Amino acid sequence: MRKYRIPISGAITAAAAAAILLVPQLGSATNVAAVNGAQTGDPSYVYRIDSSAGQSEKLFADGFDVLEQRDGKDLFVLGTKGDGDRLRGFGFSPTVESVLPAPQWAPVPKRADNDPLVPADVNETYDGGYHTVNAQYAHLDQVATQHPDLATNVTYGKSWRKNRGLTGGYDLRAICITKKKSGDCALNPNSAKPRFFLMSQIHAREITTGDVSWRWIDYLVNGYGTDSTVTSLLNSTELWVVPIANPDGVDIVQKGGNSPILQRKNADYLNGNNCGVSAYSQAGVDLNRNTGSHWDTSGISHDPCSQVYDGPRSDSEIENTALEGLFRNLYPAVRGSGNSAPAPPDTKGVMITMHSDASMVLFPWEYDYTVHTGNDAALRAMGKAMGSITGYQYGQAGEILYNASGGTDDWTYDKLGVASFTIEVGDNTGRGCSGFTPRFSCQASFFWPKMKPALVYAAQHALTPYRTK
Ligand code: ARG
Ligand code: ZN
Repeated sequence: MRKYRIPISGAITAAAAAAILLVPQLGSATNVAAVNGAQTGDPSYVYRIDSSAGQSEKLFADGFDVLEQRDGKDLFVLGTKGDGDRLRGFGFSPTVESVLPAPQWAPVPKRADNDPLVPADVNETYDGGYHTVNAQYAHLDQVATQHPDLATNVTYGKSWRKNRGLTGGYDLRAICITKKKSGDCALNPNSAKPRFFLMSQIHAREITTGDVSWRWIDYLVNGYGTDSTVTSLLNSTELWVVPIANPDGVDIVQKGGNSPILQRKNADYLNGNNCGVSAYSQAGVDLNRNTGSHWDTSGISHDPCSQVYDGPRSDSEIENTALEGLFRNLYPAVRGSGNSAPAPPDTKGVMITMHSDASMVLFPWEYDYTVHTGNDAALRAMGKAMGSITGYQYGQAGEILYNASGGTDDWTYDKLGVASFTIEVGDNTGRGCSGFTPRFSCQASFFWPKMKPALVYAAQHALTPYRTK
C-alpha cells in the first residue's frame, strides 16, 4: 500500500493526517487508467496556490506535483479532483485554475514506408505527431546516413531498464553536427571547435522539448550550404543534441497514445514500487534533482513516489552518470571549487537543457537564488538576451520559479564551468499552447519559431559565453 511520507517541514497536523486518509489507495493498474483520460474520461485539475510565504518547499515536501509554471506569487499543482481536498488538508487554499479534458485531436497515421533509406519507425508518433523514442533514434540514424559530412552519432550509455536487462529499455544517444574536419566530434574535451549542447526530455512528459530538438537537428543539417547562418555555425561550432535524455520515461509517456501518461521521472522503481503512475504519485527518480551538485538541498522530496524524489544518493541514476560522462568528454573542467569561483573568461561552451512549460530562461545557481555564481553577470546577460528573444522571464530558478537542487545545469556549471541554462519552453501569450501536451500543431506554429532564434543565439555564443555583456 501507498504510504505518504510525513511532511519534512514541521510535525504532521491533524488536518494533514485526515487528508492522508482521504487519499485513494490505488493499485498500479488503476492508476494507469486514471492518468489516461481516453480510457477513463477522468479530467486533470490544475490548482493555483498562493506561495508567498515560501510555500514552494512545503508543496514539494507534501508530495504535490508542482508544475514548472508561476504567475506572480502563485504556483500551480497538477492533480486529480481529490487533490483539492488534499491541498486544503495540508493548509493551502487552492483555487481551480483549469480542468484539462482528454485531448481531442487525432493521431498522425503511421506512413506506409516505401523508402528503403528511411527506417519505418522514423514516422512513429503519438498524441497527434510527437515522435516516439524509436522514431527519434531512427531520425538520428537517418540524418547521419543522409549527411555523413555533417553528422556523427554517439551512444553514450544505457537507460536504467536496458542496463538491468529489462524489456522496454533504450540506449542513451547523442548526435554531433558540424562541417566535419578531422578530429571533430571526438570524445575529447579539448576540441578545436567550441561546443553548443542542447538536450531535451530529461523530464519525459515535457514532450514539446523533444520536438524542438528534432526541428533543431533538421534545421542544422538542411540549412548547411543554403542558409548562411547555419553554414557559418556548422563551420565554426560543434552542435550536440541529446533529444531524449530519459528514454525509459518517454517510453511510459508514449504508451498513453493520444492521452500521454504524465511520467516525469525515469523508470527506476527500486525505491518505490507501489507508487502507481499518476500525476501525483509515480515511481522513478527525478533526474533533474539527482545530480551531484548541491544534491538534496532544495525543491526535493525523499518520498520515492514524489515527482521530485531525488534518489537514494547523488548521481544514483545511470541516465545521469552516463550523461555526466559525456559532458566530461566534451568539456574540460575549468572552474575552481566552491560556489563563487568563476570559470575563466575565455571558457568555451554553452549547454541548454529544455524543460516545459514555465516560459523562463534560468541559470545557476538553481539550488539557491541567494547565492550567485562567479559568472553571474555574463550568465545573466545571456539569459536576458534569450529572454528577450523568446519573450520569457529570466533569472536564477529561485528568483522567478522555485529553488531546486541537483539539476543538470547546476552540475555542468559546477563541475566543468560550462555556461549552462534551463529554458522552460512555454506559452505565456494565451495562444492555447500551454501544458505538457499541447496540440501538436503548436510545435510548428508557435514553439519552433520562438525557440529557433534563441538556440541560434546560444550556439553563436559557444566560443566566448563569458564575454557576453
Ligand atoms: N522547472 C525545472 C524543474 O523543476 C527546472 C528547475 C530549475 N532548474 C534547475 N536546474 N534546478 O526541474
Ligand atoms: Zn522539467
